[in-house]
Amino acid sequence: MLTDLAPQPADKILALVEMFRADPREGKIDLGVGVYKNAEGVTPVMRAVKAAERQLVETQETKVYTSLAGDPAYAAAMRGLILGDSVDVSRVAAVGTPGGTGAVRQGLELMQYADKAASIWLSLPTWPNHPSIVKYLGIPMREYRYFDNATRAVDFDGMMADLADVKAGDLVLLHGCCHNPTGANLTQTQWDAVADHLAATGAVPFIDIAYQGFGDGLDEDAYGVRLLASRLPEVIIAASCSKNFGVYRERTGLLMAIAPDEKAKGETQKTLNFLNRQNYSFPPDHGARVVQMILDDPALRADWAAELEEVRLGMLKLREQLASELRQRTNSDRFDFIAQHRGMFSRLGIPTEKVLELREKHAIYLIDDSRMNIAGLNEKTVPVLAQALVDVGV
Ligand code: LMR
Repeated sequence: MLTDLAPQPADKILALVEMFRADPREGKIDLGVGVYKNAEGVTPVMRAVKAAERQLVETQETKVYTSLAGDPAYAAAMRGLILGDSVDVSRVAAVGTPGGTGAVRQGLELMQYADKAASIWLSLPTWPNHPSIVKYLGIPMREYRYFDNATRAVDFDGMMADLADVKAGDLVLLHGCCHNPTGANLTQTQWDAVADHLAATGAVPFIDIAYQGFGDGLDEDAYGVRLLASRLPEVIIAASCSKNFGVYRERTGLLMAIAPDEKAKGETQKTLNFLNRQNYSFPPDHGARVVQMILDDPALRADWAAELEEVRLGMLKLREQLASELRQRTNSDRFDFIAQHRGMFSRLGIPTEKVLELREKHAIYLIDDSRMNIAGLNEKTVPVLAQALVDVGV
């Protein structure tokens, strides 16, 4: 059996992590995987996370199982963070999941369980693991235009033209904020138009929100998800705490499914619990508990939000600096879009040969599609990247 296994395609993001590690050159720069790094290149444990963990060690009396859905207090705290008061809580089913990827997977399994024939629409491009899981599960997949490579902004006309074909019951995957891999995001007016279209067609939004607080602020980044939650009968939301709480390896995610009414929510909750049981029984608790402790304690929450805001502003500053360095070096405003993009990523829109040249000649690692993790830079490496981009002739 095991001798006949077909090789799987390597995940491009994770393959780059290995490639970077193996590069012996001094001064190499990692702008690949979406992990936040501070100016010293460290991914720190956030202050509030440390404090909550200390408190947890002191006070936790048991490690007995929670429930199949995970700790309800965690789900409630996250629901508040993401949805605010946009929807009546009696309509929201939720389960803890191992990370945002686990939430995406459980959301897709829920979809398959509900309607095998429905298609899911993915933005072109999207996070590569989205189509990978969709294909793995054998779910019919469609794509909609999203990024305009000429302007490096959202191709909203293309997006709406493609989404004109959605059918009632199809799912449309949207990035709640900080689009991965492009960094180009919908404006509030565009979110409004998407909501109108989904309401008119009966398609169901599936929102992946993995970077809340990294774009324009915690509430600002939730504009789209809250709008859709307030307007539509059904919404699926896959959330991750990996980035905004910095708890990557703890695998802390949440899947929420907003149902049309309380009765449908009850059935949805039972189905989600069942799906958790089939896949891994109980979701991991440590990260979830730490997140819940932070969100429910005013002092810890304030400290977490302040540190997250420092991270967000730091990334914005690097965006401004890089755009300005490139403006000077190229004598053009071609790269000003970097300062307009939001979140951890920007797709530079340069050809793959140039990305490979940056890697080979300058030891600067971007994803092949020219996605750059802005948090991999610091004040000193921004000019190095700007000069390298000019050297390879972008
Ligand atoms: C990324 O896009 O780099 C992150 O979401 C990490 C991952 O798992 O791919």
